[in-house]
Amino acid sequence: MPWWFFRRRSRNTTPAQSSSGWLPGEVALPRLQGSRRYLQEQPYLLPKDLGEVNRLDFQHYILRAALHGNYLAPLQQPRRILDVGCGTGQWAFELAHQFPQAEVVGLDLEQVKATTSPPPNYRFVQGDILQGLPFDNNSFDFVHQRLLFLAIPQAAWPTAVQELARVTAPGGWVELVEASIAPKDLTPSGAVTQRLFTLGGQLAALRGIDSEGVVASSLDHYLSATGLIHIERRQIEVPVGEWGGRLGSLMALNFREGAKALSAPIAHRFTITEQEVATAIEEMLQEFNRYHTKYSYIVAYGQKPY
Ligand SMILES: C[S@@+](CC[C@H](N)C(=O)[O-])C[C@H]1O[C@@H](n2cnc3c(N)ncnc32)[C@H](O)[C@@H]1O
Repeated sequence: MPWWFFRRRSRNTTPAQSSSGWLPGEVALPRLQGSRRYLQEQPYLLPKDLGEVNRLDFQHYILRAALHGNYLAPLQQPRRILDVGCGTGQWAFELAHQFPQAEVVGLDLEQVKATTSPPPNYRFVQGDILQGLPFDNNSFDFVHQRLLFLAIPQAAWPTAVQELARVTAPGGWVELVEASIAPKDLTPSGAVTQRLFTLGGQLAALRGIDSEGVVASSLDHYLSATGLIHIERRQIEVPVGEWGGRLGSLMALNFREGAKALSAPIAHRFTITEQEVATAIEEMLQEFNRYHTKYSYIVAYGQKPY
């Protein structure tokens, strides 16, 4: 491993965090960085571009396989379904097919995949969970939010989940699916893997985003704090690397593309070249097989009382 990789370097000293969120002036990325496109005015860490669309799509299939379906809540026949931070819309499209009588709404900062023809009972709404949802109280029978752990600052999570519960109808369900960027949630793992995740976590922390896995382990508490009942929490462990068969190979690809998505901001922030990050990513892939690494997703759901 090259000496630079374990050397602690950054362009600036870490700015003091505001109590409630992030410091856009301090950490805003150029909208275009290298070949990737990032959102400038948002804490969201990942790019918004075609490469990320592809990663989100195959990550969707990994999660569907790992969960043996698209959700765990005991749904009956929901009439209105909301997916917050819908990304490519793939999850919402599948729910629209599964429940053809339901109206399915995907909400995101931006619409992607505008060229695909969505199911007729699907509708996209532009919105920002950090600004509140543009829906009335008690509007949806199922509200789903998946993988916003690199988008919602840690301090904003309780309010965001409160907002999901607000728009859920009595008897309806809220389901959260999250993971973390904390090295401890990728076990067992090698030194390069841990170092890459630590750098990603340092980048996240600059935006007030949880770098220690606190959000993922608090999902059920966030739900119960809103007054939801019948709360369940499941940890889904997924192998990472070819050693773990087809799912493991897909997960390794997911991590490779996810790490590549962060390599420009990491290089920018920590004065490491992108080529050096690329070399580390290749070493991380080898470590996955050497250590038989696993990664955990957390699913938590709860019901709004009648
Ligand atoms: C990692 S992707 C997950 C997408 C999708 N939920 C999935 O599981 O495939 C996170 C998504 O959240 C969206 N997002 C980020 N910040 C958001 C915000 N404040 N409000 C709404 N959506 C947001 C991003 O644009 C992106 O599409």
